Amino acid sequence: MDKLLITGGVRLNGVVRASGAKNAALPILAATLLTKELITIKNLPHLHDITTMLELLGSMGCGVVVDEKMSVQLDVSTLNNSEAPYELVKTMRASILVLGPLVSHFGKAIVSLPGGCAIGSRPVDLHLRGLEAMGANIVVEGGDIIASVDGRLKGARIFFDKVTVTGTENLLMAATLADGQTILENAAREPEVVDLAECLIAMGAKITGHGTDTIVIDGVEALHGATYPVMPDRIETGTFLVAAAITGGKVKVTDTDVKSLEAVLSKLEETGAKVTCGEDWIEVDMEGRRPKAVNISTAPYPAFPTDMQAQFVALNSVAEGVGRVIENIFENRFMHVDEMLRMGADIEVTGNTAIVRGCNSLKGAPVMATDLRASASLVLSALVANGDTKIDRIYHIDRGYECIEEKFGSLGAKISRVLN
Ligand code: EPU
Repeated sequence: MDKLLITGGVRLNGVVRASGAKNAALPILAATLLTKELITIKNLPHLHDITTMLELLGSMGCGVVVDEKMSVQLDVSTLNNSEAPYELVKTMRASILVLGPLVSHFGKAIVSLPGGCAIGSRPVDLHLRGLEAMGANIVVEGGDIIASVDGRLKGARIFFDKVTVTGTENLLMAATLADGQTILENAAREPEVVDLAECLIAMGAKITGHGTDTIVIDGVEALHGATYPVMPDRIETGTFLVAAAITGGKVKVTDTDVKSLEAVLSKLEETGAKVTCGEDWIEVDMEGRRPKAVNISTAPYPAFPTDMQAQFVALNSVAEGVGRVIENIFENRFMHVDEMLRMGADIEVTGNTAIVRGCNSLKGAPVMATDLRASASLVLSALVANGDTKIDRIYHIDRGYECIEEKFGSLGAKISRVLN
């Protein structure tokens, strides 16, 4: 199994381009199930999760043509089954995103129920309840969600008890072809939800209010083909910027979405970093200084994202002072802490709070990636640690970070992929 070998101690310096956003690309690919016309999605990141979603669409009979620039043309007119089997769902929970489009467009869907996950229990009850409110019949049998509807789904007013990103996306997609108006209240405001809505609008959907907590969708009879570029990845961008701050270096991320990173940039400024932005680029310059510890509390957008929590735990672990990090979205998202302790970090977790006492240095050690963002935080810790760190189970990182060793390597990091 591949591992990443990182020799720490290099101040990162340089320019790196943001890839397309995984968490926008996945729902947008699922949204292609809503039209029978040809559709082209551009700026897809080259990641395992994207390949899994394309494999899932292909397994349903959709035509999938990918070019060398990761632009993909999809043809749903050849779809011959509407099933997402366990083999694919177990490798990627986001497969649940095909449920709404399938039942809305084809009147039926069988999607394996996603099971537990390293970062929390992650139920999908709100997705199912919303579809039921729109008239779908749903049973869970033999580990599968079996959904069907006679005729079209019906517009409904749906209030989410909890803000859910993929839940909002599933119902947003389903509502585009429903009969009448759907109002999604307490909807997720994440930029990826907005990007999906913009893609659906480009396909002919009638949507307003995306980016606020109330989204209004007026169902139409059919959606048409379109060409749509996926937005840049704000979490990948944020990870590179933290890499600059943690190593005392200077990194500019280009082709990114500046607006979507406000909460992260303000925390980076609090660490003492000099943050400069242009229209589509952000530069963080730490000018060789040690970062100051910051307090973090994760919450739905526009607050601080849970997907950047682990990276800031890494930053705090070598910062000056003590940082309190509170995780409010997932109940088990501190798996990186035990690995960082192996590298000499001083972190105490009680419930959903980590108290991180900055130490003068970390020491390289063999560590294990447990989930996607946890693995990113281990890379960051390794970049600043003395000596070598070998990170095992890096398939987690390949799900969400495109060409990680090439990109960090281009900033001067000593990083390579090794076999054992
Ligand atoms: N929740 C429910 N019931 C539901 C749905 C969610 O109780 O039906 C709860 C969850 O258990 C969690 C909270 O609501 O406590 C928020 O979960 P959400 O549904 O928003 O998460 P998600 O849609 O499954 C997406 C991203 C995650 C990201 C979260 C939060 C995708 C494909 N995944 O997950 O990304 O952490 O939103 O922002 O968009 C990652 O990229 O590493 C990642 C995990």
